[in-house]
Amino acid sequence: MIINNLSKSFSEEILHDVKFRLDSNKVYSLLGRNGVGKTTLLKIISNLMEYDSGSIDSNGKSVFFVPETPQFLDYLSGYENLRFLCEIKNIPIVNLENYLKDSNIKSFVDELVINYSHGMKHQLSLASAFLISPDILLLDEPLTSLDPINIEIFKRMLREFADKDKTVLISTHIIPIAHQLSDEILLLSNKQIRQLKNNYTETELTEYVTNNI
Ligand SMILES: Nc1ncnc2c1ncn2[C@@H]1O[C@H](COP(=O)(O)OP(=O)(O)O)[C@@H](O)[C@H]1O
Ligand SMILES: [Mg+2]
Repeated sequence: MIINNLSKSFSEEILHDVKFRLDSNKVYSLLGRNGVGKTTLLKIISNLMEYDSGSIDSNGKSVFFVPETPQFLDYLSGYENLRFLCEIKNIPIVNLENYLKDSNIKSFVDELVINYSHGMKHQLSLASAFLISPDILLLDEPLTSLDPINIEIFKRMLREFADKDKTVLISTHIIPIAHQLSDEILLLSNKQIRQLKNNYTETELTEYVTNNI
């Protein structure tokens, strides 16, 4: 996917001539402060929001966006929600059964979603995303509610997903998370994106980001 000269304003301009590209087999972090425009950019590239000018060449790739606050049918179980998703998206149920076999959501998937914590809902939405299996997976601030063990599991899952010729882009405002998880960092500040290879140490990256944000 190639984004070129993308601009977007609400009452004031949020994105100005933003340019970057997303390649297969890579995990990217969209890093920036609260309110800088991360969610706006993710919604634009997943076609959920209009933009003012510029271009997005998705090169025929499918895109799926997981919002910060995932929505489910609260009075169904996690399993029933996933089954429903499979039905409406024509995904074979065997894919769901296979996914559940090595997933840690199986410990709570039969409980009603109304009783889930924020972190549990996030794991359920990740399950939905993996079942849908888009070429480009966009996750909006997925880690804020995960504990350290789940972050490790999550990191491994994202890597395995990207290794199947796919792309993952997660937004975050937390520098160590961007450093731990991604191959490249898209730093959003002053309405523009700077694309960095993640070959810095965490200290170097922190220094670079705090000087350029
Ligand atoms: N639908 C909208 N209408 C008007 N302003 C919006 C809308 N969505 C976001 N904004 C504004 O755009 C800016 C960027 O928001 P957002 O993309 O949510 O930032 P982030 O996700 O980086 O925290 C904020 O100032 C926000 O108030
Ligand atoms: Mg946001």
